[in-house]
Amino acid sequence: MKRLLVTGGAGFIGSNFVHYWIDNYPEDTVIVLDALTYAGNIENLNPVKDNPSFKFYQGDICDSVLVEALLKEHQIDTLVHFAAESHVDRSISGPDAFIQTNIIGTHSLLKAAKKIWLDEGVNKETHRFHHVSTDEVYGTLEPEDPAFCESTPYAPNSPYAASKAASDHLVRAYHHTYGLRVTTSNCSNNYGPYHFPEKLIPLVVTNILRDLPLPIYGDGKQIRDWLYVEDHARGIDLVIKKGRLGDCYNIGGVNEWANIDIVHFICELMNNLFIENPKFADKYPQAISAIAGKSQELITYVQDRVGHDRRYAINPKKSSSELGYMPLESFETGIRKTLRWYLKNDSWWGAVMDGSYRKWIEKQYSSSRQG
Ligand code: NAD
Ligand code: DAU
Repeated sequence: MKRLLVTGGAGFIGSNFVHYWIDNYPEDTVIVLDALTYAGNIENLNPVKDNPSFKFYQGDICDSVLVEALLKEHQIDTLVHFAAESHVDRSISGPDAFIQTNIIGTHSLLKAAKKIWLDEGVNKETHRFHHVSTDEVYGTLEPEDPAFCESTPYAPNSPYAASKAASDHLVRAYHHTYGLRVTTSNCSNNYGPYHFPEKLIPLVVTNILRDLPLPIYGDGKQIRDWLYVEDHARGIDLVIKKGRLGDCYNIGGVNEWANIDIVHFICELMNNLFIENPKFADKYPQAISAIAGKSQELITYVQDRVGHDRRYAINPKKSSSELGYMPLESFETGIRKTLRWYLKNDSWWGAVMDGSYRKWIEKQYSSSRQG
């Protein structure tokens, strides 16, 4: 039986991971530590909140006194570290929070883990620090370049990617120098339920439902490799179980899409959902374009992201040969599940959009829209 501390467990991927873990390992204990920043939402944990083996703490990963107390009090043997500032656009307009949480925060966690697990000897031989990172640390690819593999040199381009790269190096160093039992996974773009609607897919879905512009940065031909979030959770599970200590594993969807194509595809699916289910028009009368089968008309080209990476792609060879990992969800099925989740959960995203995020995003759009 494992005793997990999940940082950032009230965010998008962290909460999906917590649901996955409790569903698959009901005998384990799962403690979530989350600061509930603008991106964290306690509602994301509603499906597990009454589970006796689950407990939530609101707090900062930089608070080493709190982290040390949690590691000790709950006899944690597995720390899964999701907590981060995660949005590239925000890292461009305000990098400081990224340095604080992603670098200082990760280092603070590593120090606490070293103190309790190595210096004080609690779970000395059995502990695991799993660090959740991103493919953005590798930089950008040209159309014909081979996909990123674990030996691709780091070349982060945004303050977000640089802060994640720094955190990856610190995790590696704590293994090499002190013998902390660590693993790292570098994953591609996730999508699915509870995805904060400042990121491309949930933004497009919720804007269609409100008949708002669908902003496409630059020419829209940038490529991302999309993975259903539950497949990411399964990949992390495999790394924790079978990954070699001190090693890194890339997790991807083998599913490259240009942004403009994905937005067209979502528009088409949404138009069809409105045609097939007249009840959606009753629920979302403001979705005028979708009701008319014309969501594509909301597509609006806007100014490009500064320093925008052109393409990410993951070579899945190492995780498939060493861990037996392959994504299970096809994009076709995963995106349909996701659209249905957003159609059903308007109270979730409506509340999210009403908050401070709304003001921030409106300011961004008004300064970046062309013409
Ligand atoms: P998110 O922004 O949705 O969630 C981040 C969570 O961390 C929030 O709940 C927030 O409240 C919490 N948090 C932030 N600062 C904190 C602090 N100082 N102390 C405690 N909690 C804090 O992010 P996400 O998309 O779920 O990403 C989770 C992790 O996965 C991140 O490390 C990110 O770099 C990585 N990742 C994300 C993707 C993706 O597509 N979203 C892909 C690869 C890797
Ligand atoms: O690759 C993994 C990374 O994926 C994670 O590490 C990050 O935490 C996560 O946010 C994500 O980063 P991206 O920058 O790729 O995701 P985002 O959804 O912000 O953008 C996806 C693509 O869509 C990107 O090329 C920018 C573009 N885009 C985004 C938004 C929000 C638009 O064209 N319009 C938009 O409004």
